[in-house]
Amino acid sequence: MTSTYVPGLEGIIGAQTAISMVDGANGRLVYQGYVIADLAEQMSFEEVAFLLWKGQLPARAELDSLALELAGSRTLTPAATKTLEALPGDTDPMDVLRSVVSVQGVEHRLSRPSVPLAIHATGSFPTILAMFHRRRQGLEPVKPRSDLGHAANYLYMLNGTESSPALIRALNTYLVLLADHGMNASTFTARVIASTESDLTSCLVGAVGALKGPAHGGAPSAVIEQLEQIGTAENAERWMREARKRKVKFMGFGHRIYRVYDPRAKILKEMCRQMNPSFYDLASKVEEVALQILHEEHPERPQSTNVEFYSAGVLQAIGLPKEFFSPTFAVSRVAGWSAHVLEQAANNRIIRPQSEYIGPEPRKPVPLANRG
Ligand SMILES: CC(C)(COP(=O)(O)OP(=O)(O)OC[C@H]1O[C@@H](n2cnc3c(N)ncnc32)[C@H](O)[C@@H]1OP(=O)(O)O)[C@@H](O)C(=O)NCCC(=O)NCCS
Repeated sequence: MTSTYVPGLEGIIGAQTAISMVDGANGRLVYQGYVIADLAEQMSFEEVAFLLWKGQLPARAELDSLALELAGSRTLTPAATKTLEALPGDTDPMDVLRSVVSVQGVEHRLSRPSVPLAIHATGSFPTILAMFHRRRQGLEPVKPRSDLGHAANYLYMLNGTESSPALIRALNTYLVLLADHGMNASTFTARVIASTESDLTSCLVGAVGALKGPAHGGAPSAVIEQLEQIGTAENAERWMREARKRKVKFMGFGHRIYRVYDPRAKILKEMCRQMNPSFYDLASKVEEVALQILHEEHPERPQSTNVEFYSAGVLQAIGLPKEFFSPTFAVSRVAGWSAHVLEQAANNRIIRPQSEYIGPEPRKPVPLANRG
């Protein structure tokens, strides 16, 4: 079979999935048949995680049992705790997450991926981050609370006090919105690792590594940095035109699939307007200018605001420091990653594409003595 190389595998179908559909032409995201806006308004992260793993929304008893299992997964193993304590306080929290997830999952290295293991991993992500957040401030860790939901407990472990219902709701909505997104780079990474029949932890560690890059989940903290550099709405156009001359990419804009708008960005924009007006005032002006410039540069290839842009304003309003934006993305996406690993494992064929050789023609090695 012959095929042609497509940079970035654009347009190539890498898997069949029932987990989520990214409909770029119409700006739609669907999880297992449910439109994202409906889920974001009505569902807890726990209900959505169950949906991704099992294909249907949980009944009351199923949700109660999931809540119990998640609460039971909120304590780190002694080895994971030691690893976390051994890392320098100025380590990038994404590197902390990647390292500690690896150690936390070591005891399951011989097990096949399963829903209980997915729950185990999902329950541990907030604890890892909250413990590190407190440690780098010289504070004692806060013990998880089994009576709090996933979003509420994460905030509680970070801050040591219960957050307001409005902040908990906002974080919950963010977690629901980011939980899955088709064949994005980190999910593809997880599925490639799963296809070798490796363990769930290895898949998640690889996925965290892929998420870290600024072209993927590393963008929201860069959004804040870009807004800080722009400073004022009046400065936006001058700064941004200058930046494009230097080929600087506008953080929070552009997407491989969405050509109209990112439905998650739409919801987050409205949340940001309500929760973080000062961020919103500058950000909405920057958005207007960015879309104008991107349109002028490539009128044939529409670009839109992506999920990261207003996520930054929402996560800032929730009280997270910017280094915790990408790891909090992972707190959500671990549900999707693990669902994809389960789906891949259930109907597996090793993912092994081809490469097109563009190196030198076959040649004979010259012995070292004759190479000058
Ligand atoms: C998300 C992203 C990686 C998608 O990359 P992609 O699929 O290769 O993008 P496209 O093929 O649509 O890009 C086509 C053109 O638009 C430009 N473009 C895309 N996003 C841009 C951005 N944010 N700022 C400036 N130019 C951009 C590209 O440079 C390219 O132009 P060129 O051919 O003249 O170099 C890219 O848009 C990006 O880096 N965005 C900024 C980082 C970000 O917000 N990441 C979070 C993603 S959810």
